[in-house]
Amino acid sequence: MDDIQTLLNTFQEQLSSTTTLTDLTVLETSYLGRNGTINNKLKNIGAIPPEERKQYGAAINDLKKAVETALLDRKSVLLKEKDTATKIDVTLPGTAYPHGSLHMVTYAVEEISRIFSKIGFIRMTYPEVEWEHFSFEALNIPKTHPARDDVETFFVDGPESEQYGKMVLSPHTSSGQVREMLRVGKPPIRMISIGKCYRPNWDVTHVPMFHQFEALCVDTTINITNLKGTIDYFVKEFFGENRESRLRPHHFQFTEPSFEVDITCGECLGTGEKNGAKCRVCKSGWLELAGAGMVHPNVLKAGGLDPDKYTAWAFAFGLERMMMMKEGIKLSDMRIMYSGDVKFLEQF
Ligand code: PHE
Repeated sequence: MDDIQTLLNTFQEQLSSTTTLTDLTVLETSYLGRNGTINNKLKNIGAIPPEERKQYGAAINDLKKAVETALLDRKSVLLKEKDTATKIDVTLPGTAYPHGSLHMVTYAVEEISRIFSKIGFIRMTYPEVEWEHFSFEALNIPKTHPARDDVETFFVDGPESEQYGKMVLSPHTSSGQVREMLRVGKPPIRMISIGKCYRPNWDVTHVPMFHQFEALCVDTTINITNLKGTIDYFVKEFFGENRESRLRPHHFQFTEPSFEVDITCGECLGTGEKNGAKCRVCKSGWLELAGAGMVHPNVLKAGGLDPDKYTAWAFAFGLERMMMMKEGIKLSDMRIMYSGDVKFLEQF
């Protein structure tokens, strides 16, 4: 019987020195497992004199119960300790994760929206997959007109509409002009639309998918001064107070008169010279940036508006070009913007 008491004492000593749940499992198996100490004692009960066997058996059972309870108690203590040990210490410095960044075009989109919302322009989005009608016919470019070749276009395989013609990947955001007139119905209209455009070009200054933002203003007394004033406001807000803009005569089917918009070069600030030599970025002091003009009467008509009552201006800037010309960003190849080169992209 003494040996049982000794066993319990040994067990208790071993138990109190366990510090982990693994230690505890090892101890549990060594006492309660199939070949553990307690089972072995029961197996050898035959060696005990018959008159003592009953009492001895009961003592082993008591020992087993005591061992089981003690193991459970110890387990809950160890679990609690483990829990406390894994609690978050809020005073420890955290793990630094790498920062992502938005794409430079996304920043430009946000900036443009902000600049135009300040002067009451609402932002709209128009279809990326567009009907020929809104991209061309409604913009005064009939099917056979040679100007249609100016805008090279991706056509979409799909059903043709009797009314609207084929589907195209929108080659410019100007389709939004007529869509906005039809949507609003009655001017005034002050709208910007920032969208993806597609043309099959791929070189240092062209990518096949690019972004434009179109601005449209329609009202009863809109004139070129309003157009120039708005462009000036935008150029100074986006590029900086030190940049100027100018309108140069041009031709678009959907505006009359039409202009190209130039801004002073950020490198030589319009002088055309840098460090005593011709400026390498612009050569002339000016950079060509956008198309603009007074909306053609036929376009107003296609938008359901009376051209005798209303006048309008519109312009469109290419976002990627704008980013290339922003001060501090020196990009010699537009394609890098879509290269997925994280080292380049995370700078913005
Ligand atoms: N849609 C023309 C282009 O993509 C730009 C433009 C827009 C010109 C609005 C005049 C008015 O080149």
